[in-house]
Amino acid sequence: MPEDTITLTIDGQDVSANKGATILEAAADQGIDIPVICYHEATTPNGLCRVCVVDVDGGRVLQPACVAACQADSKVETDNERVVRSRRTILEMLNASVILEEAPEIQQMMRDNDADPQRFPHAQRRESELIDDNPFYVRDYAQCVLCWRCVQVCAEDAQFTFALTLNERGHDTAVSTAFDIGMTESPCVFCGQCIGVCPTGALKPKIEWGMEQGLDEDKLRALTRRGRKRDRDRA
Ligand code: SF4
Ligand code: FES
Repeated sequence: MPEDTITLTIDGQDVSANKGATILEAAADQGIDIPVICYHEATTPNGLCRVCVVDVDGGRVLQPACVAACQADSKVETDNERVVRSRRTILEMLNASVILEEAPEIQQMMRDNDADPQRFPHAQRRESELIDDNPFYVRDYAQCVLCWRCVQVCAEDAQFTFALTLNERGHDTAVSTAFDIGMTESPCVFCGQCIGVCPTGALKPKIEWGMEQGLDEDKLRALTRRGRKRDRDRA
């Protein structure tokens, strides 16, 4: 066996993996699907959402598969009772605080893990007004799961524009421009990469949003033109 290869078992299967490979990568090579929310192949994994946790050797804490490296001779279980219970609770807490109506993959995860949408009926919800401050896209942070993908593609992972950041702390943490300035005053170049990686409906092209609102062609055109105040007034 090459020196840079290790062996382990994942869900009872013998697996060879390159040293440094994550459990998520090794499992995917075996056709084992581990659910992810904050992970995206185009962004640096940060282990934020914890929906990908797996059991490694029955250890004290579950490991996030998207960032945890495979350990030689370890025994990984990706959907034992402990893992599923943890995953289910995470999904139930997320559902209790964020609107997930436009996040079909997360809704599917809830069904797959028997998550109860009513588990935490009195949880404090993430309240936020729709932000419509530019001609290109709208932001609805009531649907934001704080995966950080948009912040990362806007920064070192792709665009190097740094228009987005995280503001506040704890429950009030929210994606925002620096100092919460309007998007057209920020360094944003409206490349759309943030929309492309968002796993929910939190970020949406203005045209798509306008069509959902039932706006006609003239109103859509007026809404999506920059600086045409007269057009916007007419809309
Ligand atoms: S706006 Fe979308 S991509 Fe950005 S942190 Fe929220 S859910 Fe993730
Ligand atoms: S996908 Fe691994 S922590 Fe979010």
